[in-house]
Amino acid sequence: MSGRIPKHFIDDLLARVDIVELIDTYVPLKKAGVNYIARCPFHSEKTPSFSVNRGKQFFHCFGCGASGNAIGFLMDFNHLDFVEAVEDLATFAGVDVIRDAAETQLNAVSRDTVNDQYQLLEHVAAFYVHSLRTAEAGKKAVAYLKARSINDELAQRFMLGYASNEWQALANRFDRQILIQTGMLIEKDGKVYDRFRDRIMFPIRDKRGRITGFGGRVLDDSLPKYLNSPETAIFHKSKEVYGLYELLRKQGKPKRILIVEGYIDVIILAGYGIDYAVATLGTATSQAHLELLFRFAPELVFCFDGDNAGREAAWKAMEPAFGTVKDGRQIRIMLLPKEHDPDSLVRTEGADKFTERVGRSQALSDYFFSTLTHDLNINELEGRSQLINKAKPYLDKLSPGVFKEMMFAQLNQLTRAGVLDVSADSATLRQQPQRRSERKDGIVPLPRRIAALLVQYPELIATVEHKEILWEEMEFPGVDLFKLIFTDIKEKKPANTAVLMELYRGQPQAKAVNYLAALNLFVDGQELDLTAVASEFKDAFEKLMDQAKKKAEFRALMAKAGKG
Ligand code: CTP
Ligand code: MN
Repeated sequence: MSGRIPKHFIDDLLARVDIVELIDTYVPLKKAGVNYIARCPFHSEKTPSFSVNRGKQFFHCFGCGASGNAIGFLMDFNHLDFVEAVEDLATFAGVDVIRDAAETQLNAVSRDTVNDQYQLLEHVAAFYVHSLRTAEAGKKAVAYLKARSINDELAQRFMLGYASNEWQALANRFDRQILIQTGMLIEKDGKVYDRFRDRIMFPIRDKRGRITGFGGRVLDDSLPKYLNSPETAIFHKSKEVYGLYELLRKQGKPKRILIVEGYIDVIILAGYGIDYAVATLGTATSQAHLELLFRFAPELVFCFDGDNAGREAAWKAMEPAFGTVKDGRQIRIMLLPKEHDPDSLVRTEGADKFTERVGRSQALSDYFFSTLTHDLNINELEGRSQLINKAKPYLDKLSPGVFKEMMFAQLNQLTRAGVLDVSADSATLRQQPQRRSERKDGIVPLPRRIAALLVQYPELIATVEHKEILWEEMEFPGVDLFKLIFTDIKEKKPANTAVLMELYRGQPQAKAVNYLAALNLFVDGQELDLTAVASEFKDAFEKLMDQAKKKAEFRALMAKAGKG
């Protein structure tokens, strides 16, 4: 929608701001040696393990592993997406964000139209609210809401309205062009008419409170029961959820978020004080939905109706679930009793019982394995091999981490496949121990130490960049990553670690580079002498090169001997 922010602007910004000053405005920092420390804002702890380094422009928590540069901090701390974080960082630095010149003209125009669309929908929502409250026909809508125990306070909180049974109520009052762009008017045979007629209207707001579209429900049993806005420039069903803005107004950092199926469910639950529910917009739960929600809460509870459709939807949600869950994120599954949805259940049982059910919901791992094994006989080899084949595609989607390993361990245990490496590409007989473990003495192996030095002090490249490097002869764990980092630093000359890390945002290497940036290379608190670091790096690097050269010579010799 808006022009791209050029890469060099972001690099300059990261080189210009001071992450210590930035973080200090959110979390007061204390100096400790070369670092600044505080109690970590990303997990609860009594003694500080959160540290910020001015040289690297990088933060890292030894407790929970959170780490990143200034942009990453703003994204995590304020739940922003990348562009929003860059914008806020620019504000902090007192500069205007620049956008790519080629696109600026065009985008100024499209930004305007998008703003017009938000504005129009705001007016339309107000108009619907007005119709609900004042129009003669609105009375039956009010009666309907009352009958469903939605009181005035709730209706206001969710900005509920009524679209009257006219064909041109909107068409005659608002800009037709923008009404069409936002999907509020339908164009047919050169004529236009209102999409929503004689319906209760639910405005759908994004996390910043802007109305992006509407849902509309009939007042009786006629069909279709619900109508939603179509996909438009500002309305994306697979990315937006219903009720998030209303939830965040109640609590900025909820412990958990409940994902239910219906708009009415969200509203009724809120009426019972369970104001942490959202609903998808008549579509299946997507990975984008989950990523969005995990920005606000560490735990998501999928709440599905007790009917067959609900059960099927729960299983279908396993795909996006496995794609987003990772260490530090929890997903739970809550299947309601048959014939119930959250609305009917909370009205039957009351808020306390419902909340108890939320607490008793199934862990993702439990739900997953018990659903899969339900129709299999795992006392037989055949059943166990089927279990592996069915479970593996899901487990493979998990991000590396303790959770993934434990899920594989569980699969191993269930299938008694102790000698099978079920985490391999195709389950194979295990030949080697699965993982080389970290050295117990805490000594970092030479190649990793060199890579970490380079990531933490990119300026060290100057000491070795003129050397010819025999990359083909280099053989050590992580050589590909090292080559990539080396080449990137040589070509792009990042001003510091923070700028370097920006190169890998969203890339598969991001995690490894983060790890290298956070690696503790020196005795704690020791002040660093850059010349000493430089000479250590140069020596170590030369040692690595020597090894490669010897290998090359040895190969040449063997080749000669082979011919002879
Ligand atoms: N939905 C939809 N189109 C339909 C039916 C349903 O988009 N024709 C979506 C709506 O978002 C709705 C959700 O699916 O909120 C759940 O549908 P359903 O369970 O049928 O309705 P309830 O939310 O229970 O609504 P009500 O209680 O008013 O019947
Ligand atoms: Mn319902």
